[in-house]
Amino acid sequence: MIPNLNAHQLINCLLSNALLYGLILLFSGYMMNNSVQFWDKTAEYYSKQSIADEAAYQKKLQVTREYFKPDMEVLEFGCGTGSTAIAHAPYVKHIRAIDFSSKMIEIARSKAEANKIENVTFEQLTIDELSVGDRTLDMVLGLNILHLLENKEEVIAKVYKMLKPGGLFVTSTVCLGDTMKWFKIVAPIGIFLGLMPTVAVFTTKELSDSLTDAGFTIDYHWQPSKSISKGVFKFKGVFIVAKNPY
Ligand SMILES: C[S@@+](CC[C@H](N)C(=O)[O-])C[C@H]1O[C@@H](n2cnc3c(N)ncnc32)[C@H](O)[C@@H]1O
Repeated sequence: MIPNLNAHQLINCLLSNALLYGLILLFSGYMMNNSVQFWDKTAEYYSKQSIADEAAYQKKLQVTREYFKPDMEVLEFGCGTGSTAIAHAPYVKHIRAIDFSSKMIEIARSKAEANKIENVTFEQLTIDELSVGDRTLDMVLGLNILHLLENKEEVIAKVYKMLKPGGLFVTSTVCLGDTMKWFKIVAPIGIFLGLMPTVAVFTTKELSDSLTDAGFTIDYHWQPSKSISKGVFKFKGVFIVAKNPY
C-alpha cells in the first residue's frame, strides 16, 4: 500500500531512506576494510603457519583430485597465499585464483614463481568484484572462506551461475554454529574493533541447506573426526563437493 504523502513528507522520507542506506553502505565498507587490513597484516604469519590437521588436508586434496580432468578451468576464491592452487595446478588446465588481500597475492605469486607454476593466475579481487561468464567454469574452490563472508548466500548463488552443467563447487568451511554458538554474540564487537575479520556463525546443516537451496546437489560430504582447539576456540570444518546438476 502506498501512503498518501505531501511533497514535504515525500522529500523527508526519501532523505531519511537515503541517509539510512548511506549509513549501511559506510558500515559495510568499514567492515570490509577492517577485514582486508586484518588479512594483509596476517599474510606473512599465515604463510608460515603449519596446517592444523595435515592428514585431513591431504585427504581433501586427494578427494578434489579425483574430480579433476586435465582440460578443466578452475576458479579459487579467497586463495590466501596460494598453496592449494599451486598444489592442484599440475592436474588441470588453468586456475584463476583471487583474494582481496594484496599481501596474500604477493606471497602467492612468489610461491608460484619459486615452484615454476605457470597455469595459475593470481589476482587481487574481492569475490563481489569478480566477473565470470555464466556456465563457463568446471570447478570452483572456496576453501576456508564461506564463514568469512557477510553474504554467503549471494556468493553461493554466484558460484552456481558460473559453473557449467555438472560443474563442481568444492568447499571446506568452519561451521562455528556446531561448536561455538555463543560466538555469534561476541563476533560483531571483535570485528568492529578490527581485532578479527568478518566471521559468520552457522551450522553444518545450515551450510548444506544453503547449497541445496541454491540448486546444488551434494556429491561428497566429509567431516574430519578431529576438532581443532585454540584457547577458548573449538571448531570443526566440513568438506563438501557440491554439483550444479543442470
Ligand atoms: C582463512 S584464509 C583461507 C586461505 C586459503 N583458502 C586456505 O584455505 O588456506 C581466508 C582468505 O580469504 C580472503 N578473503 C576473505 N574475504 C574475502 C572476499 N570477500 N573476497 C576475496 N578474498 C577474501 C582473505 O584475504 C584470506 O586470504
